[in-house]
Formats: sequence, structure tokens, C-alpha cells
Amino acid sequence: MKVPISVTVNGVTYQHEVEPRLLLVYYLRDVLGLTGTHIGCDTTSCGTCTVLMDGLAVKSCTVLAAQADGAEIVTVEGLAQDGTLHPIQEAFWEEHGLQCGFCTPGMMLTALQILERHPDPTDEQIRHGLEGNLCRCTGYQHIVNAITSAARKLREQHLPAIPRRAAAPVTGGAKEGD
Ligand code: FES
Ligand code: FES
Repeated sequence: MKVPISVTVNGVTYQHEVEPRLLLVYYLRDVLGLTGTHIGCDTTSCGTCTVLMDGLAVKSCTVLAAQADGAEIVTVEGLAQDGTLHPIQEAFWEEHGLQCGFCTPGMMLTALQILERHPDPTDEQIRHGLEGNLCRCTGYQHIVNAITSAARKLREQHLPAIPRRAAAPVTGGAKEGD
């Protein structure tokens, strides 16, 4: 039996009926078409599926879509606004915080939680905050540099780390798989 959910993703509220066992990452990718959230392991190990759920970084392969009922989710697609990159995206670009880019969406969203908690983070705070996210390319130092740079940009621009969006109209209403 399917369950009704209402989830706000990047400021847009969606209503669907989903299988109770459907994972949030598959809801985002397969139902909403937001494929910027990647799947690396499906077993809570790699962190590439990380999204923000009510302001907390969660591994979306470990959350049921039904558990996200009523929640506000931010995915990588929600970072740029009106064609302007978010400071964390600019910083990853400028500081070469990625190579293949597979881990990058999860890295950036985890970084925003770090920056929400530590607006002027030490390298140690950044590295501790990234412990749940794996990167097989960069060696991590450029990611740390990018997060330090993003922190500076956010402070200079007096911006919150996590983008705030005005509520948008409800969309969806379809059953999963329709
Ligand atoms: S896909 Fe979720 S932690 Fe790896
Ligand atoms: S940039 Fe390739 S896994 Fe991180």
C-alpha cells in the first residue's frame, strides 16, 4: 500500500504517493528527476547521496521517502539561484575542490552544514565534518581549501550558509511511477 507524502525540495512542495520502502535518494532521482544527488554505495558509507533535510546533512540512501514527509530538503540543484552559483559552488570551482565530481554534490551539502555550525571553521573542524564523505580523487586538501574559501565569501556577503527560499506552489499529486 502506498503512503501519501508532502515534501518541499528546493522551495517547491511536492505531493506523491510512494511505496513505504522507497528510499529518499530514489524519490529525488527517479520521481522528481533530481539526478544531481548521486548514489555511490547505497549502504551509508560514501556520503555522495547527502542532502540537507530540515537543515541537517543526511545520507538520502538511509532515509525513507516516507520519513521525509513534511520536511524541507535542499539538493545540489537548489544551490544556484537565478543563474548565480552559490558561494560553495564558486569556491569548489576556484579552489579545484573536485576532479571527477562524483562526490561533489554530497561534499558541498555537507560543507553547508559545517559552515552553518562554524562560520569561520578551522581545518580540523572541516575535516571532522567531512568524515562521512569519501572522495577517491582529490586527496581532500583542495576540498578543505574550498570550504575555507566559501566560509570567507559567506562572511563577506553576510549570507547564511544554507540558502533560504520562498515557498513555491504545490506540484505533483501523481503516484510514484505514474
Ligand atoms: S550512496 Fe548513500 S552513503 Fe553512499
Ligand atoms: S572528485 Fe572524484 S570522487 Fe571526489
